[in-house]
Amino acid sequence: MKAKSGIGVFSSPFSQALIGKSSRFGVESVEKMVSWVMENTPPSSDPFVLEVGSGNGTLILALLEKNYLAQNLAGIDYSADAVKLSKLVAAAKEADVVTFSACDFLYEDPPHLPHMDPTKTDVWDLLLDKGTYDAIALGNKDEQGHSPAIHYPSRAARLIRPGGFFLITSCNFTEEELKVNFISEATGFKHHSRIQHPTFTFGGKSGSVCCSVAFQKAN
Ligand SMILES: C[S@@+](CC[C@H](N)C(=O)[O-])C[C@H]1O[C@@H](n2cnc3c(N)ncnc32)[C@H](O)[C@@H]1O
Repeated sequence: MKAKSGIGVFSSPFSQALIGKSSRFGVESVEKMVSWVMENTPPSSDPFVLEVGSGNGTLILALLEKNYLAQNLAGIDYSADAVKLSKLVAAAKEADVVTFSACDFLYEDPPHLPHMDPTKTDVWDLLLDKGTYDAIALGNKDEQGHSPAIHYPSRAARLIRPGGFFLITSCNFTEEELKVNFISEATGFKHHSRIQHPTFTFGGKSGSVCCSVAFQKAN
């Protein structure tokens, strides 16, 4: 049987509607995350903000438009191509001073920004994740059958200053699963708040396509 071309697969009205919905969701979730950030770590506090798995840089650059200090914003991604693209997008917005670096979050520490204490690891006021924990969880399991994502919560916690925040948006995990995975004595994370996303009802049950949860590290 002849394989369908990529264009054919995505050109049906149903697929187009789904693509439209998901790209609209991408925009809405960025807006909602930005609103949360502005409420909880306002631009006037000059927070150090790091996005883990920053892709093309959309989320971190959206903060720039809300008057966050460009020198304090950073994104890391283990894809060199993603980093290159985010730098190009930043340059087009005359925001070259935002730092985008190639870094595998599970094995490397993100580079310190100027003005950060180089002797400390827990230097970030806020860590953001939109879809990266989901992507990491899809990685190959180790010989013991563990997902690479088991390392993520402690890697995140060690980078955040006491009292700092971790805001994650996931489409693969429920809010309850995120709480179970991230809240522990080892991470020092406590549940802080959540972002409400549009809900749908199917078979008498209602749910949300994605969830966003904020955790705060103990002081
Ligand atoms: C689903 S994409 C989300 C990108 C971006 N946050 C967004 O919302 O558009 C996940 C991103 O995480 C990156 N990523 C996956 N595993 C990573 C790792 N171990 N360290 C750093 N980045 C990683 C991928 O390269 C990809 O850009």
